[in-house]
Amino acid sequence: MFDPKKFMEEAITKLKKQIKPDEKALIATSGGVDSTTCAMLASRAIGDRAQIIFIDDGLMRENEGEEVVGFFKSKGTKAELAGRKDNFFRALKGITDPEEKRKAFRDEFYKTLGELVEKKHADFLIQGTIKADVIETAGGIKTQHNVLEQIGISPRKYGLRILEPIKELFKPEVREVGKEIGLPEEFYQRMPFPGPGLATRIVGEVTPERVELVREATKIVEEEVEKGKIPAFQAFAVLLNDKATGVRTKKRLFGDIVVIRIVQSKDALTAKVPTVDWRWLENLRDKILAELPQVSRVLYDLTPKPPATIEYI
Ligand code: XMP
Repeated sequence: MFDPKKFMEEAITKLKKQIKPDEKALIATSGGVDSTTCAMLASRAIGDRAQIIFIDDGLMRENEGEEVVGFFKSKGTKAELAGRKDNFFRALKGITDPEEKRKAFRDEFYKTLGELVEKKHADFLIQGTIKADVIETAGGIKTQHNVLEQIGISPRKYGLRILEPIKELFKPEVREVGKEIGLPEEFYQRMPFPGPGLATRIVGEVTPERVELVREATKIVEEEVEKGKIPAFQAFAVLLNDKATGVRTKKRLFGDIVVIRIVQSKDALTAKVPTVDWRWLENLRDKILAELPQVSRVLYDLTPKPPATIEYI
């Protein structure tokens, strides 16, 4: 039986040993349970020698960066938002292939962290990689944004020394550690949100306009899932690369296609689609259509994992 208290204590002791008293660490957090748990572990282990960074890559949910940084500051931890939207959009420009997109994101992500580590005179980068991330990347399913060493890429390429305190855990165990270490429920029970953010929910090119559309649609899906108390491990919207003809305000529109994706899962390695009330779904569709005039179709994805994956790229 997994003992979160024991794990937490051992992880803190280990970090204390790995990071010498005159050394510092930068912790990259996306606001998800994995990275926030790591940030809490680091902050307990090395106090104000831990610097939390939220990279604003332009691909996060609405207000996410401000909320996460605000939370850590309220705990007395050093936390900062690093604005890098333009760099990420530049790195992703023109790329449509899913794996190329993931690799371009990963490269920009580590380049940014390499620069920040140098700027902050930090000795280590701490990140919240978990076992499922490594399994999927090493298994050739997807290039997860936070896996390097396990697939033979040296972090030294980016000037980094990386520590991964929770790399042996799966999501349910991370949630237990997050709870144990004092994260509020809204963090440790949070729906997983992938590192490359909304880019994983855009088929085709990632542009600021396309990200904005999927961000607004995601907000509507998340709000309605919460209101409807739908049991979801993850619930979000996806923007397809295709278009479809529709009629909006009595005019023909060759508009965007948005997919609603809701899944139940324990560890993200497999997932099923919950049975939802049809009227609830119609209401969700109507909200998306009302708020996003450029959308001509709303689809509901019925595919479990496998054969699908949870995200679209
Ligand atoms: P898939 O789409 O492979 O997703 O079924 C499995 C779980 O992993 C999340 N995911 C990621 N998380 N970096 C992350 O931190 C990534 O690059 C990444 N890609 C997918 C996804 O949201 C799901 O929970």
